[in-house]
Amino acid sequence: MTLPLRKDLEGFEPYGAPQIDVPVILNVNENPYAPAPEVVRDIADAAAQAALGANRYPDRDFMELRRDLAAYLLKESGVEIPAEQIWAGNGSNEIMLHLLTAFGGPGRIALGFDPTYSMYPEYARDSLTEWRTLPRRADFTIDRDAALAAIAELSPSVVLLASPNNPTGTALSLAEIEAIAEAARGAGPEGTDTVVVIDEAYGEFRRADTPSALALREVYPHLVVTRTMSKAFGMAGLRLGYLAAQRPVVDALTVVRLPYHLSAFTQAVARAALSHSETLMAQIASLRAERDQLVEWLVENGFSPAPSDANFVLFGPLDDRRKVWDELLARGILIREVGPPGHLRVTVGSPEEMAAFRTALLEVT
Ligand SMILES: Cc1ncc(COP(=O)(O)O)c(C=O)c1O
Repeated sequence: MTLPLRKDLEGFEPYGAPQIDVPVILNVNENPYAPAPEVVRDIADAAAQAALGANRYPDRDFMELRRDLAAYLLKESGVEIPAEQIWAGNGSNEIMLHLLTAFGGPGRIALGFDPTYSMYPEYARDSLTEWRTLPRRADFTIDRDAALAAIAELSPSVVLLASPNNPTGTALSLAEIEAIAEAARGAGPEGTDTVVVIDEAYGEFRRADTPSALALREVYPHLVVTRTMSKAFGMAGLRLGYLAAQRPVVDALTVVRLPYHLSAFTQAVARAALSHSETLMAQIASLRAERDQLVEWLVENGFSPAPSDANFVLFGPLDDRRKVWDELLARGILIREVGPPGHLRVTVGSPEEMAAFRTALLEVT
């Protein structure tokens, strides 16, 4: 049999980090703490309640969930956002696909800054958008002049910027985001404004002096800030990502979303989880402290970690990173082989998991 597979999909393997069942899993930037029993109970009740109406399609516009997400963002970032300016999908992965389906497409360019999240080129490929990148500087920051020049030269319809960036942990300053958002005005195809996406999947882990881009959405109608419940919120299994942007952006996304894309169960469970945001987020401060200790420890032991605003740390230099990765795995510790050559990325786990990682790393290097 020969399938009429699109030529641009030939030879691709499905994306995904290895799912290996080992005692210490530190490879996909999850929160190590399972939800508390009272959260589990409320989630189960909410799912049962949703089941009572499961013969009906779910609420297409999920305004209650959007209101709850807005309330959470107000608490987390101090930024007040009307519920109409929030949009949600099955993980921020789906949100990105909505964005590129609406604003990318044949003959259009999405611009990113390498090394960055490895799904970005896949969203571009799937939406038939050309993916172009600029290299980050040696310290993984963005070369602002080069970024502004590329925006002017390429007229991208979308710029994708993770802050904190994966796999480097590097956050952008507000000044950098503002410079890019200014340069994006009228820089898109046919004089449109380039849509600037700030992917804050790890936003809650940012250090105290690192601001969120959420407030800038009021100033720049073409600025989008994406978030997820998969990381700090400890709900990777739920699949709930969302964004904040002005109304015209959200309206465009409603055109390309599949009908009823957010199941009644997802909506109900997300709302139940959000009602416990304080409990679920209680670990964030300790995960941040654990991250900062890990960075210090790596420096003390002769490694060069990248400064991190996220719940993971990229570190090197390693002569043979594959060997280190293999030998850690043999000791029951799974981290990620990603980023520039000679580097590995480790997620911040519980104190016990980090102690196991530190002991093993010293043994294998
Ligand atoms: C930078 C970044 N953005 C988005 C995502 C997607 O997260 P999710 O689809 O679980 O919301 C990830 C996942 O690792 C990520 O690292």
